[in-house]
Amino acid sequence: MKAVKISEGVYWVGVKDWNKRVFDALIPLPHGTSYNAYLVIGSEKTALIDTVNPGFENELGEKINGVKGIGEIDYMVMNHAEPDHSGAIPYLLERNEKAVLVATKKGADIARAYYDVPEDRVMVVKDGDEVSLGGKTLRFIEAPWLHWPETMFTYLVEDKILFTCDFFGAHLAGGFYDSDVPDIMTHAQRYFGEIMMPFSAMARKALQKIGELEIEMIAPSHGPIYRNPERIIETYGRWSSGETREKVLIAYVSMYGTNERIVKELAARLTAEGIEVVVYNLVNSDIGEIAKDLVDSRAIVLAAPTVLGGAHPLAVHAAYLVKALRPPARYALIVGSHGWHGRSNEALLEVLKGLNLELLGTLDVHARPGADDYNKLLRLTNLLINKVREG
Ligand code: FEO
Repeated sequence: MKAVKISEGVYWVGVKDWNKRVFDALIPLPHGTSYNAYLVIGSEKTALIDTVNPGFENELGEKINGVKGIGEIDYMVMNHAEPDHSGAIPYLLERNEKAVLVATKKGADIARAYYDVPEDRVMVVKDGDEVSLGGKTLRFIEAPWLHWPETMFTYLVEDKILFTCDFFGAHLAGGFYDSDVPDIMTHAQRYFGEIMMPFSAMARKALQKIGELEIEMIAPSHGPIYRNPERIIETYGRWSSGETREKVLIAYVSMYGTNERIVKELAARLTAEGIEVVVYNLVNSDIGEIAKDLVDSRAIVLAAPTVLGGAHPLAVHAAYLVKALRPPARYALIVGSHGWHGRSNEALLEVLKGLNLELLGTLDVHARPGADDYNKLLRLTNLLINKVREG
């Protein structure tokens, strides 16, 4: 694949990583991903915005050289220092004697640590600073903690293109523009849940900042380029403001079927009441899908058996992820089961401590669910339905 022109003098020079299946040694990538980098050519200067993951340097280099030599780049703009976007900086520095790395102050510090960028090759920029390439102006917009402390956006003033790196991204190798991917918002939601949700407050600030810009194209560094940016901006506004739906996410582990029976009963009653329900058996669930559904679920139900004096480890892992991702859900139910001593509920509540969740109740079934258990489940389910409907 060669460089792709996305506007006059602006080229996509990124790579598609179709085979990547796990990100950050944690997040499954069922659809691979892309590392988008962009070459912006003015009448006097040339800038590269972001680079690619280590291992793809030659592919990046070939694309750049197909448009303009690597040695002719004047600015390497680093919107984000994480290696999937900045890992090719050492490769480029070796092949270019003049380019300076453009980054926030924090970004410059991180780049020195990760990529051995010499002091005289760094240009620190602040919010609103501009660099002219000749007929093309790059304006830098500080947008910290999306999702590292150094993150920024770059706005190409004349073309009205906003380069946002991870923000507005999607882990998806397929498709080039948003119109190529019919379910792009589902991919974007998953990505938001995995990466941006814990930083929703910073996302709101960034959205407020870019609200003043005229934007014709959003060019993130993962996934498709948005030629219709309004929808993703509006949707990010809802997600980052914590807007939830009448939706309950249930994640469970069941060793001998007890929790599964409880969960199925609960899910059936919620569904019958018109509440949207998503159910994940944690034995074989994709945590990226769970992250996606945490973005707009109003309530969370965790169900786990007691194992070795605590909750089943898969449920502990799920509870830990819920806490780390800081979803906007407002209500929780915790369900346990045990053979002789119930400890799972307290173990899960300990993990979730500190989250702004209202615990509606717990249920701990001894061996097999009996009439008392189903009666309690009914009461809890009715309470859950009322709360979810209240908003
Ligand atoms: Fe795609 Fe935070 O790196």
